[in-house]
Amino acid sequence: MDRYLSVIIIIIFFHSCDKYEPDCCGTPKPINLSYPTSFPTPYNPLDNPITEEGVNLGRHLFYDPILSSDNTISCASCHKQEYAFGDNTQYSFGVNQSIGDRNAPTIINAAFQSHFDWDGKNISLEDQAQRPIFNDIELHNNNWSEVIHRLQVSSIYPDLFCEAFGDELIDSIKVLNAIAQFERTLVSVDSKFDQWLRGEVAFTESEIDGFNIYSTERGDCFHCHPIGLFTDNSFHNNGLDAEFIDLGRYNVTSNPLDQGAFKSPTLRNIEYSAPYMHDGRFGTLDEVIDFYNFGGYDSPTVDPLMKYIGVGLLLTSQEKMNLKAFLLTLSDESFINNENFTNPFN
Ligand code: HEC
Ligand code: HEC
Repeated sequence: MDRYLSVIIIIIFFHSCDKYEPDCCGTPKPINLSYPTSFPTPYNPLDNPITEEGVNLGRHLFYDPILSSDNTISCASCHKQEYAFGDNTQYSFGVNQSIGDRNAPTIINAAFQSHFDWDGKNISLEDQAQRPIFNDIELHNNNWSEVIHRLQVSSIYPDLFCEAFGDELIDSIKVLNAIAQFERTLVSVDSKFDQWLRGEVAFTESEIDGFNIYSTERGDCFHCHPIGLFTDNSFHNNGLDAEFIDLGRYNVTSNPLDQGAFKSPTLRNIEYSAPYMHDGRFGTLDEVIDFYNFGGYDSPTVDPLMKYIGVGLLLTSQEKMNLKAFLLTLSDESFINNENFTNPFN
């Protein structure tokens, strides 16, 4: 009798699953990000809590060319873990070998940042993720229905969506939410600098001098790239040009004062993410340091924090080396090798 009962129970179970009852998919397990007290609270929308299953789905979507119109390019084609989720070329290739005019930025500690893209045109990771999906020079789709259809007929995604969101229905909001959840887990807090702050390792004399140059008026890097996140989540014209090809933040605000202003990128893992600047114009950290040492070009919108225009920082070659030595303490090997962030299809 017991056997019959269990057969009936199994039939009921499968029957209700056919109707996509939420319970069939299990309840996603919440994840709490751990981060230092110097970080702001994560911008985690209440309607998209981070869960193990959501992150797992987002990680698959991030690495899967299924999101591109011709199944060739994924988010990870341009945001590679080994380069701290940036790219090692000036401009990256999208679908049809098309090429953009901005350098692919890193994705590091994005959970704690408020604006995305060089001009900050997106104010959440959920919004941001939609842009590359339809951008002609990135994933190049025409509409959501074709993207959703590819996911629906795939052999893995109905189950992954079910686990992540409690039902098998696939829609655009869930796609974007899952990608954003995965991106929020890309936390880097274990560089030599972090270990030094925690009292676990010592700095060399050169690194200490570099830190002092960085965090005092001497080099004055810390105002725009403050200790902690190493980005102030804001926009500045740091004097790269006297005239602008790319108007940067102005494209979003139409405020003339924003011409030539770009998001201060985080300097965490800067060793891995060459080339540098919104247009990838500098191939090495030495070139970047030489640029700041030269002082930058004047223009009506140059940031007042660029105090040495036309004068330069006047760092000696030893001081430049020390500044670089400090910047290299921001490398976090455990981040670029973290197995939770690798390609799940490998
Ligand atoms: C063809 C290369 C390419 C592909 C593919 C691509 N990106 Fe990007 N990504 C870029 C570039 C270039 C920018 C800067 C765009 C800008 O400033 O207008 C960017 C910006 C970003 C940012 C902002 C980072 C910051 O700190 O401002 C995030 C996050 C991001 N991409 C995530 C994604 C996701 C998620 C996908 C897949 C859905 C994706 N990207 C696909 C090249 C790419
Ligand atoms: C006025 C604010 C400001 C100051 C001061 C400043 N930066 Fe920057 N930094 C920026 C902005 C904005 C960018 C991006 C500019 C662009 O791409 O157009 C940037 C870019 C960089 C980059 C390239 C990062 C990347 O991912 O491409 C490095 C490295 C860098 N800064 C290091 C420094 C150092 C070292 C100092 C001190 C000597 C310094 N910055 C001072 C605002 C500033």
